[in-house]
Amino acid sequence: MSTQSTLSKKAAHAEQPKGRKRMTVPDFSARKGGEPLVCLTSYTAHVARICDEVSDLLLVGDSLGMVIHGMPNTLGVTLEHMIMHGQAVVRGADKALVVVDMPFGSFEESTEVAFRNASRVIKETGCAAVKLEGGEEMAPTIRYLARRGIPVMAHIGLMPQAMNTAGGFKAIRDEAHWDAVIADAKAVEEAGAFSVVVEGVAEPLAAKITEAISIPTIGIGASAACDGQILVFEDMIGLFPRVPTFVKRYGNMEEMMRASVGVYAEEVKARNFPGPEHTYKPK
Ligand code: KIV
Repeated sequence: MSTQSTLSKKAAHAEQPKGRKRMTVPDFSARKGGEPLVCLTSYTAHVARICDEVSDLLLVGDSLGMVIHGMPNTLGVTLEHMIMHGQAVVRGADKALVVVDMPFGSFEESTEVAFRNASRVIKETGCAAVKLEGGEEMAPTIRYLARRGIPVMAHIGLMPQAMNTAGGFKAIRDEAHWDAVIADAKAVEEAGAFSVVVEGVAEPLAAKITEAISIPTIGIGASAACDGQILVFEDMIGLFPRVPTFVKRYGNMEEMMRASVGVYAEEVKARNFPGPEHTYKPK
């Protein structure tokens, strides 16, 4: 059997039952320790429509700065980028919980600034929750938002927005740093986060965090020891050139796209496209 047909069979199997109701924040939190939570990033309505069929949560991640807008990192992403892509994803998804990332500079200054910007995201996109990077230092902000009606997904471990202080994107493998990450997990849980993304940590640390807190841990580069997984859609379908170790490629869309545009260019040059079937006839 070809890889393609194996994938199609698996995909048909993975499709969620028709008529399932929209995932809410409490539904999501209640899945702690249960069936693993399926999460994917989406930045556009059409991709959201596809991912919505199999996902519990769609994240409009600030990774869109790198993946869609060609930025070198996520630091240049603005609230306006997040709102525009958030609106597109909310239009495309009607089953998964849609969460929008708070970009760098939009929440760190004060709890009030965080509330002002997070409430704009919720109002203008219609998403159900926001995600923000940070552990203990962001606990007061998470508490402030959660108590005022804004559900927060936290993000600890490797935090891409802290790349300048960390000296790059560095996975946390050294045991000397584990206690600090566990303290972050406990702090965001205690502050009222409904879930936490755990990025780039060694497997035993992911297991310790998942064991230590009562909210779902969603791993990216954090092993199968988490309560669920998230991947950047473009990474997993093979549409982004840089592939980190933790990404499994489930397709090679870049190859397919190159082949398609290549054949198109040849056919245009040879006047083989458009053919009669793509041409209007006079009435
Ligand atoms: O921005 C993003 O896509 C993310 C995920 C990688 C978790 O934060």
